[in-house]
Amino acid sequence: MPAEFILKGQVLSFSDTPFSEAGADAAQHYEAVAVGDGKILNVGNLSDLKAAHPGAELRDLGDKLICAGFVDAHVHYPQTAMIASWGKRLIDWLNSYTFPEEMKFADPAYAREIADRYLDLTAANGTTTICSYCTIHSESVEAFFSAAQARGQRVIAGKTCMDRNAPEGLRDTAQSAFDDSKRLLQTWHGVDRIEYAITPRFSPTSTPEQMEAMGALWAEHPDVLMQTHLSEQTDEIEWVLSLYPDARDYLDTYEKFGLLRERGLYGHAIHLTDREKDKLREHDASLIHCPTSNTFIGSGLFDMSGLMADGHRIGLATDTGGGSSFSMLRTMAAAYEIGQLRGTPLHPSQLIWLATQGSANALRMADKIGNIAPGMEADLVVLDLASTPAIAQRSERAEDLWEALFPTIMMGDDRAIAETWIGGRKV
Ligand code: GUN
Ligand code: ZN
Repeated sequence: MPAEFILKGQVLSFSDTPFSEAGADAAQHYEAVAVGDGKILNVGNLSDLKAAHPGAELRDLGDKLICAGFVDAHVHYPQTAMIASWGKRLIDWLNSYTFPEEMKFADPAYAREIADRYLDLTAANGTTTICSYCTIHSESVEAFFSAAQARGQRVIAGKTCMDRNAPEGLRDTAQSAFDDSKRLLQTWHGVDRIEYAITPRFSPTSTPEQMEAMGALWAEHPDVLMQTHLSEQTDEIEWVLSLYPDARDYLDTYEKFGLLRERGLYGHAIHLTDREKDKLREHDASLIHCPTSNTFIGSGLFDMSGLMADGHRIGLATDTGGGSSFSMLRTMAAAYEIGQLRGTPLHPSQLIWLATQGSANALRMADKIGNIAPGMEADLVVLDLASTPAIAQRSERAEDLWEALFPTIMMGDDRAIAETWIGGRKV
């Protein structure tokens, strides 16, 4: 296969996880990467790649860092326009800001406008794969998938199901949630780069009947992902236990309806009991850390180091618009800060791994995206490690790649994103 492009820079690739004993040695860097037909063909020395692919167009990116595109493992694209809404905690924030905005997605034109706006904003921030909640409206799912399909982008999303504790106009039923989700799944799952995720919002907004229907749908389609929220705030947990008096804990409200297993994505997962941690690990379920959301809504400090050490599968996410940023750089910075507040700072290699391979692994897509290696899909981000005067004067002093990268993680924004490549094309 001849390459169409050779990108020269500092190419970052992982052969292991930096949370293992390998630490930062889990990462290698190469001089160049060859891309063709939407895939990564080779990594290595520029001269070798030029010899192997004489017809390829060379893009010399100087000393910019070329990484796998960022993978955002938990977002609500319909919350794009109300991101950064002030002063509430989770349940009040949902009722005051989120639900009124989500009502608007009954209108397919509005849904498509926001889907396109969201995908523009995230591409500008170097994010190439997104796992999103939609709203209860099928139109919101159609709009998101159509917008992503037009861009050749790998996305996962699903109709958000809610049949209680949400306003009139934002509730479905157990049966309609099952039927609509199934129809959307059958229409879209596996089409181009699109995957469907079964999406019960969280236990408080589903009746036991709806939870059962979601469990039945997942049992019919065990190959798809299921996404929901778990143990984000302490008052939320109390509410869940009052709504499900027989449940042993929050996780049990999913477990008892067949909504706990591998391919399950559990957003936040902050205030977990030992039983919940054991069960999540036993099932190899994915925990999704949403650090800017956890500080913004005041939810708590996720135990990244402890959960990683215990062998959990963990991804990283913005949780737009409970999260306060579209940027995975800002999200890595917040994960670092939460680690510091817990006394366990994360190394830059761990932060960048979480935003790429970690999230891909949580989404069960690590064989396709999240790393730069032959055969992987060519979703890339090119980082300028001197994108502002403040960052430039700091990275200038760096003695190794990690020191050069860390100021961009902590202080960088969309100005640090020199290029974003989706499916082998610069966007
Ligand atoms: N829990 C249930 N729904 C949501 C949501 O939209 N955002 C956040 N952060 N938590 C939730
Ligand atoms: Zn969420």
